[in-house]
Amino acid sequence: MIVARKGKGGSRTRTAMEINLSQNVAWLLPFFFLLVMVNVWSSQGQGCPQRCDCIGKLKTVSCRGKRLSTLPEGIPMDTRILDLSGNKLRWVEHGDLLPFLRLERLDLSENMISVLEPNAFSSLQSLQSLSLRANQLKLVPMGTFSHLSNLTSLDLSENKIVILLDFTFQDLKSLRKLEVGDNDLVYISNKAFLGLVGLKELTIDRCNLTSVSSQSLSYLHNLVTLRLRYLSISTLEDQNFRKLGNLRALEIDHWPFLEFISSHGLQGLNLSWLSITHTNLTSVPTSALRSLSHLTSLNLSFNPISVLESWALRDLLRLKELHLVNTRLVTVQPYALGGLRQIRLLNLSANNLVTLEEGAFQSVNTLETLRLDRNPLACDCRLLWILQRRKTLNFDGASPVCMTPVEVQDRALSAFTDSALFDHFTCQKPKIRNRKLQQISAREGQVVSFICRAEGEPTPVIFWISPQRRRITTKSSGRLTVLKEGTLEIRYAQVMDSGTYICIASNAGGNDTYFATLTVSGLPLDAALMANRTYYAGDLNDTNLNDTRVFLKFTLDLKTILISTAMGCIMFLGVVLFCFILLFVWSRGKGQHKNNFSVEYSFRKVDGPATSGGQGGARKFNMKMI
Ligand SMILES: *[C@@H]1O[C@H](CO)[C@@H](O)[C@H](O)[C@H]1NC(C)=O
Ligand SMILES: *[C@@H]1O[C@H](CO)[C@@H](O)[C@H](O)[C@H]1NC(C)=O
Ligand SMILES: *[C@@H]1O[C@H](CO)[C@@H](O)[C@H](O)[C@H]1NC(C)=O
Ligand SMILES: *[C@@H]1O[C@H](CO)[C@@H](O)[C@H](O)[C@H]1NC(C)=O
Ligand SMILES: *[C@@H]1O[C@H](CO)[C@@H](O)[C@H](O)[C@H]1NC(C)=O
Ligand SMILES: *[C@@H]1O[C@H](CO)[C@@H](O)[C@H](O)[C@H]1NC(C)=O
Repeated sequence: MIVARKGKGGSRTRTAMEINLSQNVAWLLPFFFLLVMVNVWSSQGQGCPQRCDCIGKLKTVSCRGKRLSTLPEGIPMDTRILDLSGNKLRWVEHGDLLPFLRLERLDLSENMISVLEPNAFSSLQSLQSLSLRANQLKLVPMGTFSHLSNLTSLDLSENKIVILLDFTFQDLKSLRKLEVGDNDLVYISNKAFLGLVGLKELTIDRCNLTSVSSQSLSYLHNLVTLRLRYLSISTLEDQNFRKLGNLRALEIDHWPFLEFISSHGLQGLNLSWLSITHTNLTSVPTSALRSLSHLTSLNLSFNPISVLESWALRDLLRLKELHLVNTRLVTVQPYALGGLRQIRLLNLSANNLVTLEEGAFQSVNTLETLRLDRNPLACDCRLLWILQRRKTLNFDGASPVCMTPVEVQDRALSAFTDSALFDHFTCQKPKIRNRKLQQISAREGQVVSFICRAEGEPTPVIFWISPQRRRITTKSSGRLTVLKEGTLEIRYAQVMDSGTYICIASNAGGNDTYFATLTVSGLPLDAALMANRTYYAGDLNDTNLNDTRVFLKFTLDLKTILISTAMGCIMFLGVVLFCFILLFVWSRGKGQHKNNFSVEYSFRKVDGPATSGGQGGARKFNMKMI
């Protein structure tokens, strides 16, 4: 029975009905047991418990929110649907629900139930739906759900369950939907889901789980939908879902620590619907998506993905819907949607996009719905393709709005008339300013820069082509790079850098080019003759030389050697003189007088040209003391 209990030793109140039954019926066969119950039911007339609402035809009893602390008296035995939600029930024991053999749906949500007994529901063989949502359950003992072979839906969410034990659900062959979210789950035992062969839908959310092991999921062969929300998992291991071959929909939502999905993280899946939202992923997990060739809908919204790279989704041949809402997207590169031949819906709402070029698509003709609102759009020729389709494209009630140029600020694309089409939405071809030919001669090792400034609408991108036909951009690392405003900078110029450099300014309106020549000469002849040597740390020919490498250059020449030798001699003589003075002072102190003495020393032979002067012969110094 279901009763309120205050503490463990609290008294239980029994209903009169149960006393009646146990006295009259205990010795009868189960067959009669049933009959008597039917009698009791009819003898009670309409048989609707006080305070509850009954719908006789549907055999429904609703006692929702009646502050009940015990199971009310007089519930008809043939009730099919029993709603006891929102009460103060604390206990479910074997026997409490014994009489209600026909029960199909039982709602015990929003009570205070903290203990379930093994076999608590075992007589309810017709039960199809059981909700224990929002109770105080800490543990689900083994056998709690035994014999419920017709149960199709079980809701255990919003409890305080810490661990799911092995075999908890093993009798639930027919279970299709299981909710275990919003518990304090820290661990799901490897065999917890064993036996759930019919499970189609599983939701785990708001738990303290740090992993959902592939072992525990491996029993869910027939799972179709898996929702994993609000979890603290930081990586998806290789083959985390490998046995879930029938899974069609996977939702990963609010995993703030997820930064990386390994390239085999989704292996074994054949999804048609995937949603990975509110994580810390900074790029599209292209390699992990590779195997999902049947995917039709992908949602990567609310991840900090600022660039949608070229061919990022190339393997998703059947993709029809792509959502990248509020991902702080700044750039959609050319062919970012390359490979998506069936794309119908693109939702890029609430990003930082200035434009979306037609060149991002494989073919824009399949597109039916486009959300590009809440982006700072520049209404120039790059958006002309949208304008031209503004009557056929579905903007889902939120037309893109121009941010620039100022004349059309805040105007919705759908509001432009045909005549306005050529006044706005134009681009201005880049024009390179100051076209004076730059010819620079430089010495090896110098820093050289060529200026290239261009204007145009939209602002042109500037890059350079080297004499070796290499493309140099602002992203190039090494000695040759392009500074922000378009200036080409060549550090530590080498002879081989000589040649013609081409500056290309390019925007959606076209290109402009400009030439500059550089001649680098080797170091001067005299210096080269004087045993001139240059040492580099690293190979300068390596154009990838980066800034962290230290560039060292030692030059050794004759003058330096002579001077340093001379300095050495002077120091040496100074030291000798100092010793004499010390000796002198010492000998005076001892009172021993010596009138003269001689000192002999010789220069040591010094390497290099310095030796040519002094031949190192012995020299004598004579000193006389007074
Ligand atoms: C789960 O995490 C929440 C928030 O971090 C914390 O308040 C709660 O105590 C944790 N529960 C367990 C069982 O660790
Ligand atoms: C998300 O990533 C950023 C930078 O990569 C990091 O600073 C931040 O702490 C991460 N957030 C979480 C919740 O791990
Ligand atoms: C993957 O799922 C699609 C349906 O979405 C199905 O047609 C296809 O046969 C499945 N492929 C495999 C290998 O199971
Ligand atoms: C696009 O995303 C926004 C924001 O999440 C959403 O409200 C809208 O329904 C989406 N539109 C479509 C067509 O999916
Ligand atoms: C600009 O140059 C690129 C190659 O750098 C070329 O592909 C493109 O067609 C050119 N555009 C125009 C309008 O000339
Ligand atoms: C620069 O070179 C160092 C040493 O070779 C290397 O460790 C570092 O990764 C390089 N940095 C870049 C940005 O290439």
